[in-house]
Amino acid sequence: MDRLRQVTHIDNVKLGEDKESVVIIDQTKLPSRTEYLTLKTAKDIYDAIFELKVRGAPAIGICAGFGIYILAKTIKSRDYPEFYQQFCKYREYLDSARPTAVNLSWALSRMEQVVVAHKELGVDAIIKLLEEECMAIRKEDMEMCRAISEYGLSLLKDGDGVLTHCNAGPLATSRYGTALGPLFLGKERGMEFRVFADETRPLLQGARLTSYELQKAGIDVTLICDNMASLVMKNGWVQACLVGCDRVAANGDTANKIGTSGVAILAKHYGIPFYVLGPSSTIDLNCRTGDDIRIELRSPDEIKKKFYEAPMALEEVKCYNPAFDVTDHSLITAIITERGICYPPYTKSLVRESIS
Ligand code: MRU
Repeated sequence: MDRLRQVTHIDNVKLGEDKESVVIIDQTKLPSRTEYLTLKTAKDIYDAIFELKVRGAPAIGICAGFGIYILAKTIKSRDYPEFYQQFCKYREYLDSARPTAVNLSWALSRMEQVVVAHKELGVDAIIKLLEEECMAIRKEDMEMCRAISEYGLSLLKDGDGVLTHCNAGPLATSRYGTALGPLFLGKERGMEFRVFADETRPLLQGARLTSYELQKAGIDVTLICDNMASLVMKNGWVQACLVGCDRVAANGDTANKIGTSGVAILAKHYGIPFYVLGPSSTIDLNCRTGDDIRIELRSPDEIKKKFYEAPMALEEVKCYNPAFDVTDHSLITAIITERGICYPPYTKSLVRESIS
């Protein structure tokens, strides 16, 4: 149990004790080193999100909430219009760090709402309310992860083989995580699972983070290269796929880490249920379908050089490096949020989830 708590109770993103900084675990250094970074400026926060030092949709949202709070405190003016104008500049800057995960703009909008709704109270009172709001975002995320884990666990049986892609565990959220939450919760209750973690090229979140979290918690995990998923499924070793999400469109199309849609296609082929788990804040009803979701394109160096001693392709070779893909709703067995389990047709079940 202690090993489990060590993983599910880490503070991957928190407000610094001085309340003038955000402290994160630098996820790019794991699993070799656990290093904490203290972020103080808008550029520190932007870079940490852009460079995936803090990553995973909910964790990015939490970091942005803390970030905009500490930046709001640095604004000198006590004149509301001036304060609000500078607040919006910081908000837009942070929001531009990564486009696909809705949680970033969702958390920043929530913070902005506090500023707008309490205009008449004055800047000092607004800053106090901003602190409460960013703490609430983090606390709610912990509660949501716990509820998602309960619903997710109800879909699994003791001894099941589970395949997961990327990392949707405690490092990507707070406490239990989303897609990995049912596994941690089950472990807490004495259940055993056999987990296959896709390494998740090119940034290896599965190898560096998922296998690390599960191994540390004492859960049976086997790391596989992404192109081995088909064989593992064919062997009958997988009874369910669990993945996280970065943005869910109104029809259930889901953006998640690049390679997720391939896993879903394989799962359909082998008749394995494919579950998406995430907080209801990830549902974006403004996106009608996955075609409306903007996909982040990243540097070719992540494919050619990032984790190699020498480049693995010629400098002049072109690369296409989308960070996410969209899984068609028809491939998704259910979408699990903190409010329950949504089954198709998602145009009905998701609308209910996001407004109830
Ligand atoms: O690029 P990343 O590492 O931020 O991508 C993360 C994912 O795709 C996760 O699956 C998703 O954010 C859900 S995290 C609970």
